[in-house]
Amino acid sequence: MRILITGSAGFIGFHLHKHLHNYFDVTGCDNLSSVCKFTQKLRLQEIKKNKLKFIRVDLNNAKNLSKKFNNKKFDFIIHLAAQPGVRISQIQPVKTINNNLVSFINLFEYAIKNKVRNIFYASSSSVYGNTENFSENLSHPNPVSVYGVSKVANEYLAKTYNFLNKINSIGLRFFTVYGPLGREDMSYYKFLNSIKNSKKIEIYGDKTSKRSFTYIDDIVISIHKLINVYKKKKSYLEILNIGNSESRSLEDLVKIIKNIVGVKFREKYVERNKADVYKTSSNNFKLNKIIKFKPKISLEKGMYLFSNWYKNKVSDKIF
Ligand SMILES: NC(=O)c1ccc[n+]([C@@H]2O[C@H](COP(=O)([O-])OP(=O)(O)OC[C@H]3O[C@@H](n4cnc5c(N)ncnc54)[C@H](O)[C@@H]3O)[C@@H](O)[C@H]2O)c1
Repeated sequence: MRILITGSAGFIGFHLHKHLHNYFDVTGCDNLSSVCKFTQKLRLQEIKKNKLKFIRVDLNNAKNLSKKFNNKKFDFIIHLAAQPGVRISQIQPVKTINNNLVSFINLFEYAIKNKVRNIFYASSSSVYGNTENFSENLSHPNPVSVYGVSKVANEYLAKTYNFLNKINSIGLRFFTVYGPLGREDMSYYKFLNSIKNSKKIEIYGDKTSKRSFTYIDDIVISIHKLINVYKKKKSYLEILNIGNSESRSLEDLVKIIKNIVGVKFREKYVERNKADVYKTSSNNFKLNKIIKFKPKISLEKGMYLFSNWYKNKVSDKIF
């Protein structure tokens, strides 16, 4: 089976490619536009080291896209390329919308022309906005960020392409994914960087906000299991949460980091960003029913694994 992963020099894409390449014929592509330059460079080195098939392509350029992929017959596309992140979508709203919508449409148009029937694409917990109801079917998306809006738009586009062109798809609503080679713009990574640089860690609001922190391996395993289930299906259109069902506070995260690092650090409180939701909590009922699996790696274990990687690849100064 042939699979194309877009955004494969990104955090989730790289880990997924590295895993799936042991089972399928996988090609990765990316335009190397991540704002996380440091980790993208490390991932590129790993792509070379692991001899993963990689094509540099900008999905916003439709002409280029057809030229690069026309001869390939993919059975599945896993579309992870995007400008991710709530904060950056406030600084660069036009770029976020352009990138996350144009690349999405170009990819679906490519799929129609090249008879690719199956697309899994990255949506996000950001589509929920401020709510207590994190069930895919019962809650109406109510995003509070431009980034969240771009993901809701992706879900509607997927529905439209399914109706018009019978493209099967699953929108994967990921919840705060973290781990080795993760994005250095995310809080857990920024905290270690601040501690390393003897700076205060920046806490937005207070420490009561909560996230379903999801370790990268749980995401990779879930997607692999989904491929195995959906490769046998003729027609489908789904939205699925993939996140750790345990929602943990920022206070928990800071405590865990305190237990891991060997140096003292201080905290600085800054105003909460309205575009950051107060809480996310993944409801995995649907996912578990389909693949008999749900993300389960605890924040304690995941942060221990992340900090081991950080110690080896970034700096051992604080341990
Ligand atoms: N990491 C998370 O916590 C999280 C949570 C929810 C959703 N998501 C979504 O999952 C996906 C992967 O996230 P990630 O954390 O790995 O992000 P990432 O930034 O590490 O990876 C995205 C990759 O897409 C590439 N890219 C961007 N625009 C492109 C374009 N036009 N053409 C080709 N490549 C392009 C970037 O260079 C980058 O390598 C994204 O769609 C993101 O919105 C991530």
